[in-house]
Amino acid sequence: MRLDRSRTEPGAPAADGGIPLCVPEIRGNEWDYIKECLDTNWVSSAGSFVDRFESELASYVGAKHGVAASTGTAALHVALLAAGIQADDEVLVSTLTFIAPANAIRYVGAWPVFIDAEPDYWQMNPELVADFLENRCQRRNGALFNKNTGRRIKGILPVHILGHPCDMDPILEAARKYDLVVIEDATESLGATYKGSMAGHLGDVACFSFNGNKLVTSGGGGMIVTDNDEWARHSRYLTTQAKDDPIEYIHNEIGYNYRLTNIQAAMGCAQMEKIDHHLAAKRRIASTYDERLSSVPGIAGMVQAPWACSAFWMYTTLVDTASYGIGSRDLLSRLEDSGIQTRPLWQPLHLSKAHSGDQIYDCLVAEEIWQKALSLPCSVGLSGADQARVIDLVHSIPRTTESERE
Ligand SMILES: Cc1ncc(COP(=O)(O)O)c(C=O)c1O
Repeated sequence: MRLDRSRTEPGAPAADGGIPLCVPEIRGNEWDYIKECLDTNWVSSAGSFVDRFESELASYVGAKHGVAASTGTAALHVALLAAGIQADDEVLVSTLTFIAPANAIRYVGAWPVFIDAEPDYWQMNPELVADFLENRCQRRNGALFNKNTGRRIKGILPVHILGHPCDMDPILEAARKYDLVVIEDATESLGATYKGSMAGHLGDVACFSFNGNKLVTSGGGGMIVTDNDEWARHSRYLTTQAKDDPIEYIHNEIGYNYRLTNIQAAMGCAQMEKIDHHLAAKRRIASTYDERLSSVPGIAGMVQAPWACSAFWMYTTLVDTASYGIGSRDLLSRLEDSGIQTRPLWQPLHLSKAHSGDQIYDCLVAEEIWQKALSLPCSVGLSGADQARVIDLVHSIPRTTESERE
């Protein structure tokens, strides 16, 4: 059975009988809350569910403010503006991530500087951050400039990928040393902790996405969280068309229509009620994969740092062609033949044509991870039987491939 490629959108269901990569779990109050929006006519960009979703998410991560946005990408765009990132500034960002954070840097006219992943947990390498700031930049008039481009370095945007936090202490130390803002992209790591603190409450401002494959989904949506009163006020202003007078339509800045609807927020609120259950499922799925795949030569699972509690949002393995027998892309198509949806990680951004010409700093580790990585089915609702089917195939595929060759 072949999977339909149109089903690779975040959270899209698999074909009948197939096992999807990561689909939403909708088993709570979603129907009741959305019906309440319809019954009361509060269906658009204001309403009690928007306020409730904002305050529940902010309090979950321990932040003072939550500002809803239409997508995670919109949240990143606005967070960068609120944090004062301007045209021709530079922002250090992980190269091994989905493209949205780097695009958002370009939306404000600033430039990404791509930083490699570290090999253990695949997150932004803090040593390279410190090294780049120390050796490739210089201070002038109290600010820091890239020696190569002459542009000002303004911020660091670590992306906590796949459910695991970045090693934030050295990143925050470097940011303090050079007076840089830290904008976390915590989209993939809602519920993860770093030394006991929530991902999304470690830097100056953080962003989340609630698209279809995230731990908590609102269908589509995003959120900016921060303790900074002024940044929160400005973010809200920018996401709502920067309207200074709602009756006279007075605008003193260029704003955006980045509002989340009450219907989407209603779904988000219902999902938040189940977040502990979703996290427990992700962690259980990860530990089953770890246990049952550790004996497969050439398949390495995700490693959790001693200072982290991962959300294991997207369970990913590294496939070593020499010892497993086939590579990650061949394994993908073999699993696809059995109706099992898997996915490689993103092309590292320093290789992307969309960002050709941007600055890169030593990105070879990300390239190796990209070649080897394959994410396995890990929906919250993945049944034990379906997970066993995936595991059995990962065990048997190299043997069947070998005998086909003979
Ligand atoms: C790390 C990361 N940042 C940002 C986004 C963008 O979120 P959205 O699709 O809601 O715009 C995603 C999306 O999946 C993501 O994985």
